[in-house]
Amino acid sequence: MSKKIAVVLGTRPEIIKMSPVIRELARQKINHYTIHSGQHYSYGLDKVFFEQLKLPKPRYKLEVGSTSPGKQTGLIITYSERIFQRNRPDIVLVQGDTNTVLGATIAACKTGIPVGHIEAGLRSYDKSMPEELNRILVDHSSDYLFAPTPESRDILQGESIPRKKIFVTGNTIVDAVIQNTTHAKPGPTAGMKNYILVSLHRQENVDNPARFARIAKSLGMVSQKFQMPVIYPIHPRSKKMAKKFGINFGQVKVIPAVDYFTFLGMQKGASLIMTDSGGVQEEACILGIPCITLRDNTERPETISVGSNMVAGTTPEKILRCAGTMMRNNIKWKSPFGRGDAARRIINILQAK
Ligand code: UD1
Ligand code: UDP
Repeated sequence: MSKKIAVVLGTRPEIIKMSPVIRELARQKINHYTIHSGQHYSYGLDKVFFEQLKLPKPRYKLEVGSTSPGKQTGLIITYSERIFQRNRPDIVLVQGDTNTVLGATIAACKTGIPVGHIEAGLRSYDKSMPEELNRILVDHSSDYLFAPTPESRDILQGESIPRKKIFVTGNTIVDAVIQNTTHAKPGPTAGMKNYILVSLHRQENVDNPARFARIAKSLGMVSQKFQMPVIYPIHPRSKKMAKKFGINFGQVKVIPAVDYFTFLGMQKGASLIMTDSGGVQEEACILGIPCITLRDNTERPETISVGSNMVAGTTPEKILRCAGTMMRNNIKWKSPFGRGDAARRIINILQAK
């Protein structure tokens, strides 16, 4: 008999990166259910992806919403523990590094249920990022660690996690890109030849007024220097903070966050992507689009090694220099994130154990 799996998700990237896993569970007719924490709840960060990716409605909705990180994580622990006790799965599957992932992992551990962590072994070595703490705690609490690359496996082994718990599977984002690329559409970039796409939402960038203002100014300078429109589908967190700090985006075209098919299409047509997103660094690499990361580090160093990405920091000088280098570099690279069969491999490993 197949093992019963509880898939927990709660934010935009988890919905996208778990979608191939949920499809695979359905395809193999494996007993499973989904829990949505409600960490993301706005239509454009949540429901639009369920509709577009044709995912069934989650069996359980925790509706924790936006609150302080500790309370949010605490509510996820409390509510998921209750569900795990009432409808006990054999395995809890989580993906990535959000508070949802941490909360569900703690609840599973406290209930004695093994945890599978998809996208294990990523490290920025910057503990001021909430995601870094979440990743470390979840990796060290998990029973099955699905490392996307040999590099992430080596990191886990370097932290003394037993080799037998670690499986190199590729990243499910490759599966998601392959499954959805034919639906990609240019949206607001229809008919545009040269443009630069931005995504920026990380706490360390947008909750710091000086840093956010400096990055916004740099985006305008890039647009001016390279004579290209810069388009920024804005995350609600960044929108809220931009309003609070009175950030001036100058000539940058700021639009509401877009659906997945549109963001894929906008990435495919871009001359350059500037981002602080984890998933977008990966997608740019998979789609063959040059990328610069608006942070001081990256937990996706494989993208730097293959030449698809540069860490550009947050000062105008370095951002301009990196943007120029990446647009001049006419290099091709091979994506290090696998062949697009990560979901199948993950499910097969779990069912074989
Ligand atoms: C979270 C993750 C981050 C991930 C991102 C994906 C953590 C610590 N952070 O960050 O790693 O990259 O999701 O997008 O888990 N808001 C809305 N509508 C929503 C959700 C949030 O307006 O549906 C606004 C609220 O003002 C909220 C703010 O965004 O306070 C931040 O939301 P939160 O979920 O705490 O963090 P993200 O920045 O989305
Ligand atoms: N994305 C989207 N619409 C947007 C911006 C991003 O669909 O307006 C997708 C993007 O293609 C990627 C994922 O959201 O698959 C990345 O999520 P996000 O940047 O929110 O989180 P992170 O990866 O940084 O945790």
